[in-house]
Amino acid sequence: MIMEPKDIDFYSLGFNFIETKIMFVSNYKDGKWDEGKLIPFGNFEISPAACILNYGQGIFEGMKALRTKNGEITLFRPELNAQRFNDSADRMLMPNYNPDKFIDAIKQVVKANEEYIPPYDSGGALYIRPIMIGNGPIVGVKPAMEYKVIMFVTPVGPYFPEGFQGIDLEITKKYTRSAPGGTGAAKTCCNYAGSMLPVKETKERGYAQVIFLDAVHMEYIDEVGTANFFAVINGTLVTPELSGTILPGITRKSILELATNKLGMRIEERDISYKELFEDTCSESFCAGTAAVITPIKSVVIEDKKRIFSEGKPGELTRKLYELLTGIQRLDIEDTFKWMVRV
Ligand code: PLP
Ligand code: COI
Repeated sequence: MIMEPKDIDFYSLGFNFIETKIMFVSNYKDGKWDEGKLIPFGNFEISPAACILNYGQGIFEGMKALRTKNGEITLFRPELNAQRFNDSADRMLMPNYNPDKFIDAIKQVVKANEEYIPPYDSGGALYIRPIMIGNGPIVGVKPAMEYKVIMFVTPVGPYFPEGFQGIDLEITKKYTRSAPGGTGAAKTCCNYAGSMLPVKETKERGYAQVIFLDAVHMEYIDEVGTANFFAVINGTLVTPELSGTILPGITRKSILELATNKLGMRIEERDISYKELFEDTCSESFCAGTAAVITPIKSVVIEDKKRIFSEGKPGELTRKLYELLTGIQRLDIEDTFKWMVRV
């Protein structure tokens, strides 16, 4: 059911779906995309034999439109989402979508739902969800002949209710998210479907999310279920390298650039054994993504071992990076990298 903007309390949003007015839809048939158009948000018909319904041929992106202090609307590095959308499409044998058209459609759908952008001082955002599905009918395992791009938006608050207070995470040795040669680097629906059971189980034990380890050694950190992982070890900012099993996060890339260019920090992209998190040399830890922004990790647990970071408070470098990133995104800090795009 559609909610009128006046009925939404933008100051107490979580990360829940709220229906907005308009979505963008484009169809691919006979080897080409149509122009695409804005239509009222709503259901559509799909064949029970659609490839997405049977074999999960689907990809998505996650982006945010933010309201700045002076009322402007900004997007954060949307060209990188457009590029990753096509990288994911390539992995799933789906057609590419023109990056300029992608950004133009994002701007159209944000503008059309402008009243749903949470105000600057609420800290919320208009979350943008572009998806592509193979909706053509199929029965053998092969790519669909027809596709649909849909872009919809929903106002959101923090992904983790704990927000910048920090979260407790469990390192799992029971489940993995992706293996070498798999689909871990693509933003495909299937990666997320398989993470729901591990997340349900960990939440029942009181943790916010799981940290997945590499599927070969069950030792090196891959990522958090919905965000990339970072730690400060011996004063260096470290994050798992892009080995093909983790999502190449746009927030991750930006944090590495901020740490190097603005904070003069040493950075390393390398294998991180989960055992390093239990040593005194590891002083801070956080996870990062569009939805998660920068969320401090208060503690990690594996089996009967627990490590609490910075006495359970956000670490100093975590806070600096958070302030820089969100400051640039809201145009409170000069955007020297030219990351922000006005809608
Ligand atoms: N890792 C996973 C599994 C994610 O779902 C996300 C969210 O998009 C990220 C990392 C972070 O990526 P980004 O910073 O581009 O949002
Ligand atoms: C994002 O951060 O945009 C994500 O896609 C994470 C999650 C909500 C799936």
